Amino acid sequence: MQAKPQLKGLPSYKPGKPIEEVKKEFGLTKVVKLASNENPFGASPKVAEAIRKAASHTAVYPDGYAAVLREKVAGKFGVAENQLVFGNGSDEVIQFLCRAFLSPDTNTVTADPTFSQYKLNATIEGAEVREVPSKDGVHDLEAMLEAIDENTRIIWVCNPNNPSGTYVSEEAFLRFIERVPKHVLVVSDEAYLEYVTAEDYPKTLPLLKKYDNLMILRTFSKAYGLAALRVGFGIANPRLISILDPVRPPFNNTTFAHLGAIAALEDDAFIEECVEKNNSGMKQFEAFCKKNDLYFYPSQTNFVLIDFKRSGNEVFDYLLERGFIIRSGEALGFPTCARITIGSEEQNDELFGILEKFLAAKPVQQG
Ligand SMILES: Cc1ncc(COP(=O)(O)O)c(C=O)c1O
Repeated sequence: MQAKPQLKGLPSYKPGKPIEEVKKEFGLTKVVKLASNENPFGASPKVAEAIRKAASHTAVYPDGYAAVLREKVAGKFGVAENQLVFGNGSDEVIQFLCRAFLSPDTNTVTADPTFSQYKLNATIEGAEVREVPSKDGVHDLEAMLEAIDENTRIIWVCNPNNPSGTYVSEEAFLRFIERVPKHVLVVSDEAYLEYVTAEDYPKTLPLLKKYDNLMILRTFSKAYGLAALRVGFGIANPRLISILDPVRPPFNNTTFAHLGAIAALEDDAFIEECVEKNNSGMKQFEAFCKKNDLYFYPSQTNFVLIDFKRSGNEVFDYLLERGFIIRSGEALGFPTCARITIGSEEQNDELFGILEKFLAAKPVQQG
C-alpha cells in the first residue's frame, strides 16, 4: 500500500474536546464550550421546526442541486443562482478549490497564522504552501503579493482572520486584488462576516463583476448557528463555479441541512439579536483584558485572541478542569495566547471569574 508521499506524518485535525468527555474526565456536571466559535445562542427556533417537520424524510436522497436553498441564497445576496456552490461546511468548498486548482507543480499563498484548512488541503494535493508571516495578526498583503509567481494558483485572504480576529480593510483589499495576476484565484473567506462591525470592511460581492478570479466563502456554521448541519457556500462567477461543480460529491448536503439553512435565512431578527449580544460580549472581553493588563487582538468576530504571556496550554488546562473548553494558542501559531469564543453574558462573567483566579494564582515570572 502506498499513499501519496505528502500524507506521511500529516496530523489529523484535532477538534476541541467534546463536552461529554470533559464532564466525565473531571467529574463536572456543567461544561461550556468556547472553543470553536459556534453561536452560544444556538440557532433560530425556525430551524429545529423545519427539521422536525421533515424528520421522517430519510429514505430519499437530498436534492443534489440544492435548488430551493440556492434560490434563497441567491435572492438574499443578490447574485445569480449559477454563481453558487454549496459545501458540507465551507471546509468542503476549500477542499473543492484545492482539488480543482492545486497539484504538485503549483503553489498557494496563505497568511501565517491563518485558518488551518487551506494549508492542509493544499498539502494533500501536493502543492507548495507559501506561508507569509502576518503583522500583528493582520495579513501582510504586500508580502503575500510578492510571494506569487507563475505557478501560484490560489491566494487565501481569511477576512476576518481565524485565529487572530483581525481584518483587512476595504482599501487594502482593493489595492491588493487589483494587483493579483489574473491566473491566481483570490479566495476571500468571510466565515465571520455577520459579526463584523468595522465600516471599512471590504464589500466583496460587487467586486465579482470586475474580478473573474475572486471567490467569496460564507458559512452557516457561525452566526446562523448551524455548525452541526454543515452548510457553507462559495460565490463566484459562473465559469469558476462550473469548474468546481464536478469536484463536488453529488449529495454533499443533507436534506436537513438544506431545510435548516433555508429556515435560518428567514430569521434576520435572530441574527441581529445574536450580533448585538456578541457586541456586548466583546465589550465584556475588552474590559476584562484592560482590567487585567492583557493584550488582545482587535477582533471583528465572535472570538478573542488574548495574550496571557505564558503557554496557552496552561490557560487551557486550568479552564478545562473548571468546565470551560477554549483553544490554546500553542496549536494556532500564537503560543502565549488563548482563543476564546465570546459566550453569553453569564458564561463570560463566569469565565472571567475563573481566569482572574488563575492570574492571581499563577503570576507571570518577570524577566
Ligand atoms: C475562517 C474559517 N473558514 C472556514 C471555516 C469552516 O467552517 P464550516 O466548514 O463550518 O463552514 C471556519 C471554521 O472555523 C473558519 O474559521
